[in-house]
Amino acid sequence: MKVHWGLEGLYVNESSICYIDPVSSKIYYRGYDLEDLVKYASFEEVAYLLLYGKLPTRKELEEFSNKLRERRFIESTIIDILKTLPPDAYPIDVLRLSLDYYCTCKRFVNTGSEKDNYEFAIDLIAKLPVVLAYFYRISRGLDVVLPRPELDHPANFYYMMMGRPPDEVEYEAVKTIFIIYADHSLANSTFTAITVASTLTDLGSAIIAALSSLKGPLHGGANREVVRMLLEIGDESRVEDYVLEKIKKKEKIMGFGHRVYKGQARDPRVAILRRVAEKLAKRKGGHYEKLFNIAVRLEEAVAKHLGSKGIGPNVDLYAGVLLYLLDIPPDYNPAIFAISRVVGWVAHVLEYWNHNKLIRPLEKYTGPIGLKFVPIDQRE
Ligand code: CMC
Repeated sequence: MKVHWGLEGLYVNESSICYIDPVSSKIYYRGYDLEDLVKYASFEEVAYLLLYGKLPTRKELEEFSNKLRERRFIESTIIDILKTLPPDAYPIDVLRLSLDYYCTCKRFVNTGSEKDNYEFAIDLIAKLPVVLAYFYRISRGLDVVLPRPELDHPANFYYMMMGRPPDEVEYEAVKTIFIIYADHSLANSTFTAITVASTLTDLGSAIIAALSSLKGPLHGGANREVVRMLLEIGDESRVEDYVLEKIKKKEKIMGFGHRVYKGQARDPRVAILRRVAEKLAKRKGGHYEKLFNIAVRLEEAVAKHLGSKGIGPNVDLYAGVLLYLLDIPPDYNPAIFAISRVVGWVAHVLEYWNHNKLIRPLEKYTGPIGLKFVPIDQRE
């Protein structure tokens, strides 16, 4: 009876959505190299690819993009709820609460209709960014910004949050983050989504659970912690001491380490994000460039002191930096991860339902048995 803590190294699903090749340090979405998708594809093309398993034709892309565009609104009752929330509520909790409210009002159940489930999936991809942008503005006492139909999905999100469309470099940054975060095989939140969905509950309930998983600092919460850590380090000259101190205290350094990329394997998302971050950091200069440089020094110091243990940077290091460079408050980082990863979550759930099997593993019992019940007034 061997216990596989953390299910490490176990295969529990078959999927044709995302392949991680730790040997060549490559990620493929539906067979396409992630680097090529970041370079050549729009977010909408990538979302379509993940959902439907093939690159869209021009007509299919237009229809899909139109659907996303037309669904960029949320019900006024959700806006009313956003107004009642504490301004410093964690944005990922706000997403979860809003989705829960939406599902509760709609009395969603899984009817088993594939068509309905795909439509709901597209709703989720279109609406979660709107909730986030609205909460950002409402919580700061700013007027909400209505969507602009001529802007694509990443540009419109940035516009609705910041009140102005992104320029070329900012657009590249937002689009890259959206594509890179869109899927990563069976990450904890994706496994959570299919675990919950395997009971044949509705898609909304599975995504609510996935949001809860993503919040954790070992997963999507890491991109928030990364920025806090880099600000705490504060200067390149303090990086080496910070790393040595963490090692001494046996504490984790955020944005490093990964269950899949170990030993020689490297997370290919790091180099892509570092490249985009460097461009934006150099352009913005000042404290932005300083934070980027601290991250670069940290990468070097961790390689020096922990490289032999196979610990390298993960996606959240430069995703965190990039979001800082875009003036996104760190508390929003996990929520931005979520509005991108929702594509992977729904794609995985829809795929899993094609061969659904209730997920119900075993646990090895280590407690006593046969104890004699003692009435409460006779207990010591
Ligand atoms: N800093 C220092 N030491 C580390 C780190 C780190 N970031 N990550 C792993 N280690 C050490 C760990 O202390 C342990 O050492 P020892 O064998 O001496 O006890 C060894 O490496 C194995 O660590 P583990 O935690 O058992 O490995 P895991 O595969 O269970 O953990 C991880 C993967 C992501 C939870 C872990 O690397 C970690 O906590 N990283 C920091 C949080 C983070 O950046 N999370 C984002 C992950 S990537 C994106 C995502 O999924 O959202």
